[in-house]
Amino acid sequence: MVEQNQMDSFVAWAKRRGVIWPSSEIYGGLSNSYDYGPVGVEMKNRLKAAWWNTMVRQRDDIVGIDSPIILNPKVWEASGHTENFTDPLVEDTVTHKRYRQDQLEDPSKSPDGNPVSEPKNFNLMFKTFIGPVEEDQAVAFLRGETCQGIFINFKNILDTSRQKIPFGVAQIGKSFRNEITPGNLTFRTREFEQMEMEFIVREEDADKWFDYWVEQRLQWYVDLGIEKKNLRLVKHPKKALAHYSKATTDIEYQFPWGWGELEGIANRGNYDLTQHQKFSGKEMAVFDEETKEKYIPWVIEPAGGVDRSLLALLVDAWKNFEKGRKGEGEEETVLAVKSGLAAYDAAVLPLIKKEPLQKMANTLVKKLRAEGKNVFYDESGSIGRRYRRQDEIGTPICYTVDFESLDGKTKGTVTARDRDTMKQIRIKLGEV
Ligand code: GAP
Repeated sequence: MVEQNQMDSFVAWAKRRGVIWPSSEIYGGLSNSYDYGPVGVEMKNRLKAAWWNTMVRQRDDIVGIDSPIILNPKVWEASGHTENFTDPLVEDTVTHKRYRQDQLEDPSKSPDGNPVSEPKNFNLMFKTFIGPVEEDQAVAFLRGETCQGIFINFKNILDTSRQKIPFGVAQIGKSFRNEITPGNLTFRTREFEQMEMEFIVREEDADKWFDYWVEQRLQWYVDLGIEKKNLRLVKHPKKALAHYSKATTDIEYQFPWGWGELEGIANRGNYDLTQHQKFSGKEMAVFDEETKEKYIPWVIEPAGGVDRSLLALLVDAWKNFEKGRKGEGEEETVLAVKSGLAAYDAAVLPLIKKEPLQKMANTLVKKLRAEGKNVFYDESGSIGRRYRRQDEIGTPICYTVDFESLDGKTKGTVTARDRDTMKQIRIKLGEV
């Protein structure tokens, strides 16, 4: 786990190992914007796949969709985002730096100790223009949350998926918010990815499903391998609820800089569907077979962030040993992430860059890739350094083809080295 005083080492590691880079770096960067490198993108894709698997593929009662980033601007009028999706912006009266008032320790003073201006409601929606002319009619927004694409497709989903209430609809995708104070690496950025699921229920069942999803979602983070003591649930006080929410509980993680939200589980009531019915003129009510009445259903929403979850996963699994793991060598870093979430399932390393070791190693690479494993092949440099490089990016196992693989009793075997224990055993190639 990254300690507060290790953040610089962690950021340097993330850059050195191709996990997270400052974006647009050759042009001097773009504030609070990051790229995922070759290791980062593999881990991010695996995290999303893990969520999709748990939320959609393993269940009969949830389906997925994929909707665009730019929707009809009326969607955001109906959802209340053009009016209510605001943060309280204040300005330091001396330095003129801007802050979110609700994030200040003292709401009347800036972190520099100067008085701040009266708060203004600052809208977080990113504006853009559709078509070649920047006319008013062509103003559109980059979505501020993925779930609106789900709400406006509610009837399509009912008509095509054979789902009956209660059921859920999931989506993963980019969202955009013109945050006043982004920061802490990928924790708060202006462009980020969300994993959201809207679970459609009857009003009388809403509380039951709310509790169910809070419990399920907390367990998901524990199952990812995040330490339970670094997770907690926080209930929003009534006055801090978003404009659409009747109740919200956040799942928070203890980051090196303090507790921060990973996911919010909200009871959105029937706010969104009612608003879309009103603004679109299209009926969103469903027929209740029991009561023989029409009603607009309620929604329980677990809404998580891909970037924040990945950051928590990295921070939690990152271990730094200043004098090596045995306490008497060079600095070592190990990313002790659960297998299946590491960028690579295994590394295959011929002891030296020569035949027939390379050939045998390549046979093993092909076999593992054919089984769907993501394999890293590395044939140059000292074997100790190659092991350490894999430890640093969390590869759970390294297979080494050495001279013993070629002759005698051990012919046809490779060394399997475990990332966490560093123990090595010999196994037959066919049994890898
Ligand atoms: N549809 C509900 C909704 O969007 P939210 O709590 O505003 O709820 C859900 O966002 C999740 O999206 C958050 O818990 C967080 O993980 C992620 N998220 C929100 N704003 C973010 C930002 N600026 N940067 C990174 N992730 C963000």
